[in-house]
Amino acid sequence: MMDNNLEIYNSEIDNFTTTTLEELDAFRLKYLGKKGILIDLFNKIKDIPPENRKDFGKDINILKSKVLEKVEALKNTISQNQCTHTPSLDVSRTANFIKLGARHPISVVTNHICDIFKKIGFSIAEGPDIEDDWHNFESLNFAAEHPARDMQDTFFIDKNILLRTHTSPVQVRVMEKHQPPIRIICPGRVFRNEVITARSHCIFHQIELLYVDENVSFADMRQTLDYFIKETFGSERKTRLRPSYFPFTEPSAEMDISCDICNGKGCNICKHTGWVEILGCGMIDPNVLTNVGIDPNKYSGFAAGIGIERLTQQLYKTKDIRLFFENDIRFIQQFESI
Ligand code: DAH
Repeated sequence: MMDNNLEIYNSEIDNFTTTTLEELDAFRLKYLGKKGILIDLFNKIKDIPPENRKDFGKDINILKSKVLEKVEALKNTISQNQCTHTPSLDVSRTANFIKLGARHPISVVTNHICDIFKKIGFSIAEGPDIEDDWHNFESLNFAAEHPARDMQDTFFIDKNILLRTHTSPVQVRVMEKHQPPIRIICPGRVFRNEVITARSHCIFHQIELLYVDENVSFADMRQTLDYFIKETFGSERKTRLRPSYFPFTEPSAEMDISCDICNGKGCNICKHTGWVEILGCGMIDPNVLTNVGIDPNKYSGFAAGIGIERLTQQLYKTKDIRLFFENDIRFIQQFESI
């Protein structure tokens, strides 16, 4: 015969369920703890009349096994649920701040210039930073030992191999491979053995311009360059062409634009003249055309070399060219929104 309390315990054990380990532990202690129900029941055995003792002992042993089984089963389900349980989403947490990178101002301006020329039918060509003497000098009419080579202080790797001093060798590489009509721009890095100051650096960037076809004239060149300056700086900016000398062009010129940093008043960027030299240009020397296998009696062309740093300084009014190479995050970040 079952004790009334045993019945209550039995049904409590059968019905017990929980999802937390804390509640399960409390349940375990209630039955199996030192002061728990089962110890209490075992202590009662001696008070049971001898004829009932055996049954009573059997009943409480069954009760104990039930508790043990229940605890074990619930422990397993709870730990399984905890493994698959995804942490709840804390909507009040500050969002992770994703910082967007920015293009370097030199890349921004280079891309901008390429777009301007692409609109009028120029395509992009590239050449190597490490050049040979033929492409950098000889083919461009810089004879060996000619003083014109001193115009560009060169980093030599060995007697015949050097870091290109300008982007003009890309003209040669393109003309060696293709017959006119040719319309290309060549952006790239160039190197000169120069003292680093606010105005000059030993590494800088140029864009080379080359147009070869029948009947190309100096007026075509002027027109194209003016279009480029107006597209870049707006129609208010003044330009002027000054006669100059480059071995690979005849006649040669340099184009200046009015200095926007000092508004023509004079500053250290414009050497106190109010004008900034922005590019060199000229009609391709017939010797250069002959060197690359293009007939100078049939074809003519113009070329120009644009200094990107100089142009970027004018566009963003940066006074020191060294800022472009230091990668100081405080400087670079100012161009983020472009
Ligand atoms: N290559 C010259 C330089 O660095 C710039 C230049 C001048 C390029 C006249 C040209 C040109 O294509 O026609 O300094």
